[in-house]
Amino acid sequence: MNFFEYRDGEMTVENVKVADIAKQVGTPFYLYSSASLAYQYNQFKEAFGDLDVLICYAVKANTNQSVIKSFAEMGSGADVVSEGEMRRALLAGIPAKKIVYSGVAKTVDEMAFALEQGIYQFNVESEPELYQLSEVATRLGKVADITFRVNPDVDAKTHAKISTGKSENKFGVPWVNVREICATAASLSGIKLVGLDLHIGSQITELDPFEEAFKRISGLIETLREDGHEITRLDLGGGLGIPYQGEELTPLPAEYAEMVKRVVSHLGCQIIIEPGRFLVGNAGILVSKVVYVKKGQERKFLIVDAAMNDLVRPSMYDAYHEIVSVNESHQDRELFDIVGPVCETGDTFATNRLITPMESGDLLAIRSVGAYGAVMASTYNTRRLVPEVLVNDKEFAIVRPRPTYDDIIGLDQLAPWLSK
Ligand code: LLP
Repeated sequence: MNFFEYRDGEMTVENVKVADIAKQVGTPFYLYSSASLAYQYNQFKEAFGDLDVLICYAVKANTNQSVIKSFAEMGSGADVVSEGEMRRALLAGIPAKKIVYSGVAKTVDEMAFALEQGIYQFNVESEPELYQLSEVATRLGKVADITFRVNPDVDAKTHAKISTGKSENKFGVPWVNVREICATAASLSGIKLVGLDLHIGSQITELDPFEEAFKRISGLIETLREDGHEITRLDLGGGLGIPYQGEELTPLPAEYAEMVKRVVSHLGCQIIIEPGRFLVGNAGILVSKVVYVKKGQERKFLIVDAAMNDLVRPSMYDAYHEIVSVNESHQDRELFDIVGPVCETGDTFATNRLITPMESGDLLAIRSVGAYGAVMASTYNTRRLVPEVLVNDKEFAIVRPRPTYDDIIGLDQLAPWLSK
């Protein structure tokens, strides 16, 4: 479902014109659709039917309080990777008992905070982390429910920088060491082993890598049960891909859920899933204005007011994002490179892209940026962080305002010997 449609040649989100929001907010800005968030969440939820599944939204994809709150109201839990994300999830109303905590380098302070809040589980990734957690929990008089994140050594067939389940990646307990580490866990006073967990990568558009990994982990659970461990939870991570070029969605949530049921339901475990991109990716666009149209020697450039610091995915992962004019009242198309103002050649959103010819002052939209867009932004070139706007039917709200220059520069302090 596309919630960013054209009506009489003008892009609308739900029932608001994008150009009207731009007039009030100024450009560039991120724009999210509430209906899209709900549609994606419900699609996922309904796909699993009556299977005992806890959906833990991977908040790293989009940490805006209004976005997390939207999911909290739908009953979602959260997957977090830092104390900061945990605080955001709790503040937005996700109950601690629905929070799972992932990450390779949880610190003592972060562990203590999570234990005090009473989160659902820690996804532990190494032996040193296990010992550390047991020590912190024992000191606080608590017992930490844990799963081990195992590294299944499976190729997720996605971009190398977002592939996490191969043995050479830093993530998870090596496959061959899992039985041993589970035996260690059983001997520690501050730890209760409740399950296993994996996450093989992101933007995965085929079922096979998931299925291979889920089969491997199911077999492992059976072995661990034979070893005497009571395994009651299985956390399958996130990773389900989304369409970026207007293609059909693959795999469908229903196909994914059917496979999960077929491969793991005989275990009788509670299933936990950590979708990030799937829930928010297609729910957001980045609206930007053309500053100049420049005729280079070989190419024509649309120089826009958004840049790589606002959306880093194209320069970081060579990611493809559809770029369209907000006003599509005529059918002409021309080839352009679409670039930002930052002083780096990598500040390029698209090369040789066929797009409606535009002029200085025209608006364009970069699609499918709801996940890993605003959260990865920086203030490089002392550019202000881009505001975020959420639409709900006919209304919209600025859910993160554009900071002032004083907000940014004021974070610095002059060294005392320079301020005299
Ligand atoms: N669970 C864990 C432990 C993760 O590390 C991640 C993402 C997720 C769940 C959610 O994965 P998703 O459903 O969103 O694929 N910045 C990159 C993506 C990095 C993903 C990191 N981990 C990008 O822009 O493509």
